Amino acid sequence: MRQPFLQEEETRRALAQFILTAPRLSMDAQCQRFEEAFAQHQQCRHAILVNSGASANLILLQALKNLGRLKTGDKVGFSALTWSTNTMPIEQLGFVPVPVDCNPATMNVHLEQLKERLREVPDMKAFFTTNVLGFAGDLQAIKNFCHQEGLIFLEDNCESMGTELPEGKTGNFGLASTFSFFVAHHMSTIEGGMICTQDDELAEMLRIVRANGWDRNLSPESQKKLREQNQITSEFKSKYTFYHPAYNVRPTEITGFLGLKQLEYVVETYAQREKNYLFIEENLKNHPHFSPFDHSHIKVLSAFSLSFLCRSEELRDHYVERFMKNGIEVRPLIAGNMARQPYYKKYIGLDFSLPGAELMDACGFYCGNYPEMSEEDLQLVVECLQPQ
Ligand SMILES: Cc1ncc(COP(=O)(O)O)c(C=O)c1O
Repeated sequence: MRQPFLQEEETRRALAQFILTAPRLSMDAQCQRFEEAFAQHQQCRHAILVNSGASANLILLQALKNLGRLKTGDKVGFSALTWSTNTMPIEQLGFVPVPVDCNPATMNVHLEQLKERLREVPDMKAFFTTNVLGFAGDLQAIKNFCHQEGLIFLEDNCESMGTELPEGKTGNFGLASTFSFFVAHHMSTIEGGMICTQDDELAEMLRIVRANGWDRNLSPESQKKLREQNQITSEFKSKYTFYHPAYNVRPTEITGFLGLKQLEYVVETYAQREKNYLFIEENLKNHPHFSPFDHSHIKVLSAFSLSFLCRSEELRDHYVERFMKNGIEVRPLIAGNMARQPYYKKYIGLDFSLPGAELMDACGFYCGNYPEMSEEDLQLVVECLQPQ
């Protein structure tokens, strides 16, 4: 990513003006307006804004624990190809993380992989999938299966904002989904995150968990109910009454302001991201060194990155070096197989076979994809991909 914002110049000017004149900079009206606009954009009932995607994942799991829908010791499945702060809160909150393998054809977990893991771990209580790098698995089939088996289904959609399957937008299949607005994601509020859900009870609990465990951000009816249940009769005391285990992961008005501004531009960038991806894909057709990714099940591919899977580890190292020599920053596919990370081996360490994630760990890499990429930028990527 070259610039932190879509419409960089205009956004920075507007932000400067906003800071000079805003009556308040801690969470207030801008955050609320952004939540409403985001809920409308995502076509969901509730959107709860927080200070990062990591915080979104953390408070989602804490809220489910507070509601008793997940309990200490419960097994929670997750995509082996994911980000650290998708998996870390599973362990930190006393659940048992269970990695589910990803299909190298799409980088994502499909129902087949979930079923396979369930054969070994039949008492899994929830599955927290990651929609990887703008791609997704067969989310409708996973959703139906989870419903049938009584599994809680959650989506980490931090990398796939804007992607659509024929059945709907990614982020709308699970009980709740999380988003990140860190720089280089589909839109940026510098740091920021969101949780989306249709579930009223979960949304209320998320607002409690986001801010200190108090009831200040609830509707008057919910406040009344909570205070009655806890025999809080004094208005004076109610402001400093803490009902549930919580954090302070509130956004600021800067987050809300930037979110509203960036949302104006984000829709047209989905198409540009897809166009960039398809251009590179076209140039990779029949390439002897790369395995193509399959996105035939995806209606809108809001590609996070330009992702590549080489046919061997040696080839991957060769192309990584070539990209770097040409000044193009490259990374593993997210972070490779999460179960291979030092923290994972030290604190979790349960051994499962993950051949898909292993293959992508060894042979995959990606470079950035962003809407303002020029023809020369794309051409340079194509040149770096030439078999020589
Ligand atoms: C899949 C996934 N989940 C969660 C996060 C965390 O988001 P943040 O950086 O906003 O904390 C990221 C970050 O890139 C991510 O890729």
